Amino acid sequence: MPDTPKPRILIDCDPGHDDAIMLICAAAYADVVGITTVNGNVGLHHTTRNALAVAQLLGWDVPVHAGAARPLIAEPVDARQVHGETGMDGATLPTPTRTAPGDGVEYLLETTRQEEGLHLLATGPLTNVALALRIDAGFASRLAGITFMGGGALGGNVTVAAEFNVFADPEAAAITLTADCPVRMCGLDLTHQVTADQDLLDRLRAIGGPAAVLTTEIIETELAAYGRYATSSPEPPLHDPVALLAITHPHLFEETATPIHVELGGVHGRGTTHVERRAHPGASATEAPSTRWVHHVDGAAAIDLIVEACARWA
Ligand code: BDR
Ligand code: CA
Repeated sequence: MPDTPKPRILIDCDPGHDDAIMLICAAAYADVVGITTVNGNVGLHHTTRNALAVAQLLGWDVPVHAGAARPLIAEPVDARQVHGETGMDGATLPTPTRTAPGDGVEYLLETTRQEEGLHLLATGPLTNVALALRIDAGFASRLAGITFMGGGALGGNVTVAAEFNVFADPEAAAITLTADCPVRMCGLDLTHQVTADQDLLDRLRAIGGPAAVLTTEIIETELAAYGRYATSSPEPPLHDPVALLAITHPHLFEETATPIHVELGGVHGRGTTHVERRAHPGASATEAPSTRWVHHVDGAAAIDLIVEACARWA
């Protein structure tokens, strides 16, 4: 049996601890055409530098382009309390020897004009994706689909109801969820099925090599941060790698095609995603929704894949 070809993908991200682990998995399991960065966990300067540094650590000559430095409308928020001032606190990374051009949105548009059928993975606020969708109406239809880490059906991590990537730019998420292509949401209810623990650390420490060492440093830092502030679980979810694996290993996931809406107003509700879960939906139902709620993953298999990805650099 011939191997299934790796999916060809574009990645839009805001590294960020779990984004960095996602990049390791992407380098192992996908054919990554290019990476764009966005303001999110920390400012654009740091997320771009971190993407370049992770690629360099892996010996990976992937194009990196910086995108939006601010959300569409919202005031910027960040997640320094989790990822630290640099976005990668606790991790030992090389100083990047290259820089990234600042044309991230144009890069996304131009790349999809040259090659149709790429899959777009977004693991930060959706600002770049929304800008590309608004600038060029054909952008979505040139993609095979968009998969994003964000939102969720069972509550938030920034507020009671809102998840960070959607909360950081709710208007961008709302635009993305109306894109003219399949849009898959990998929210907190999914990513909390794949968490880091001491057993994972032991497995990574036994591997060695730059990817396993980086992932170990990240998880050690996150375990300490979660011990300080987490309200939901003491074990950090591996959010962004899960969204990558939903593209590269879809057989491990279950999803339902259903309408998903973003709350743009409200005192406590801004940035909340509403997933239609009723058996007999009302007026919000459409004949064939293009949005898909990814709600289940084989967590043990996902952890094994993260370990196997790291082992490729041992
Ligand atoms: C998401 O927010 C960020 O802090 C993580 O990198 C992840 O993409 C989880 O809410
Ligand atoms: Ca992220």
